Order: sequence, then structure tokens, then C-alpha cells
Amino acid sequence: MFKIVEKRELAENVDEFVIEAPEIAAKAQPGQFVIVRVTAKGERIPLTIAEKDPEAGTITLMVQRVGKSTFHLSCFEEGNCIKDVVGPLGKPTHIEKWGHVVAVGGGLGLAPIHHICQGVKEAGNQLTVIMGFRKKELIFWEDKMKLLADRVIVTTNDGSYGMKGLVTDALQKLIDDGEKIDMVICAGPVPMMKAVADLTKKYGIPTVASLNPIMVDGTGMCGACRVTVGGETKFACVDGPEFDAHQVDFDELMNRLKMFKDLEKVAMERFQE
Ligand code: FES
Repeated sequence: MFKIVEKRELAENVDEFVIEAPEIAAKAQPGQFVIVRVTAKGERIPLTIAEKDPEAGTITLMVQRVGKSTFHLSCFEEGNCIKDVVGPLGKPTHIEKWGHVVAVGGGLGLAPIHHICQGVKEAGNQLTVIMGFRKKELIFWEDKMKLLADRVIVTTNDGSYGMKGLVTDALQKLIDDGEKIDMVICAGPVPMMKAVADLTKKYGIPTVASLNPIMVDGTGMCGACRVTVGGETKFACVDGPEFDAHQVDFDELMNRLKMFKDLEKVAMERFQE
């Protein structure tokens, strides 16, 4: 059992959990994730490790209430225990001293981006973070990002905070301003990652995307997380979750993510009855 030592609501439908998991905290590296099972019969939920504290023996996870299992998890409070937390899983982010790195995170994509940014800074890179949200009320972790990055740009779709527009508008502006960008790392909704990849491809800027497909076992056995990268089938849980964004078939990923929408709706309705 894994004890929740802190829980706070970060924004509408988004909770942050700090969980006692000393072995995972000791081993976790940027880019890696865990699979959480709320109860013995529960669905497996893949969640990126947003932060770790090996001394305290804790990891931090962000959870967005999108379906029955995440809604159930959001009902847990400080002091409660989660049945299973398995990890760290996935390949760590490949990090080197590139120069100027721009990390782009949309919504819950800030979880992988935060941990990756820690590694990017430790490697001695200059770091710009672009954080995108729909509106001001949904913003979280701007303070944490400011502690890490040399510069943080926040965008909101409706202009209620920061720059009005999308993360790609902010990225385009950096490019138009003549900034030298050596690497882009992005995580967030699939259409956002696709738009970032399309933009950087035009300018020949290497780009990595942290993918978020459906996962079941997280060990390369079930095939649920398969994605097509450069025409080849890859399993995001063991080959990723990060891949060359210019090679990812984002349209296929979007379609696969929609596959269980109807069943998820039914499960949620039953849970709320
Ligand atoms: Fe089963 Fe990746 S989650 S193969």
C-alpha cells in the first residue's frame, strides 16, 4: 500500500498527490512514469512522475479527472493508501548539453515537462518553458517552473493571463525573434504536440514528444500503447514514452485514444450512480 502524504487541488479537475514510495523515488529519472491501481480490481492508470524527493522517499503525481478511475483516485485524501504504484517505468529522457532548450507543456503535460526540465537544467542548458492553458483558472505550477527555467512564458487561449494564443504562437514568436533553439521537448494534448512538431519541422529544430497513449500492463506485453514512429510500431511503455516528434503518427495516436470513449462514459455513469 502507498500512503498519500499530501494532496492539493491544483486547478479545476486537476489534483496533485505526494505519495510515499521510497524505492521509486530513489530510482526515478526524468521522463519515467508509474502505473497506479486504486483498488485490487481497479483499472491501471499511467501517470508521469512530475517530481521526486529521494530523501523524503516521495514522488509527486498529477491527476486529471477524465474518467471513472481518475475520478475515484481524486476521492482519496491525505492519509489514505493507494493499492499499487508500480515503477519507475519507461525509458528515461535522453538529456545532453544541447544549448538552448525550449520545453513546451500543455495542461497535464506539465507533469513530464517539470521532471524533464530538472534534468535539462542539471545538464547545463539554457531553458525556456512555454506553458499553455485554456484560461487563467486552469494555470498551475508557474511558480515551480520559474524556479527552474531561465524564462517562463504562459499562454492562455482566451488571453485571461499571459500571452493570448496557443503555445505554438509563443514558439513561433521566439523563432521570428531570431532566437537560436537547439532542442524542443513537448508534452500535452496530442493536437498540441502535433502542432509543435509541424512547426519545428519547418525550421529543422530537433523535437521530442512525450506520448500519452492508453496503457495496460506498462511492460511491453499487451500492445495497448502501440504507436507508429517513422513507419515502425513502437510500444510507448518500453520504447518510450518519448520519441522523435517529427516521426510520430499523431493522427493514429489521436484515433487510438478515442477507442474506449463510449465505454469510459458508461463506467463513469455507473460509478456516479
Ligand atoms: Fe502494454 Fe505498453 S502498456 S505494451
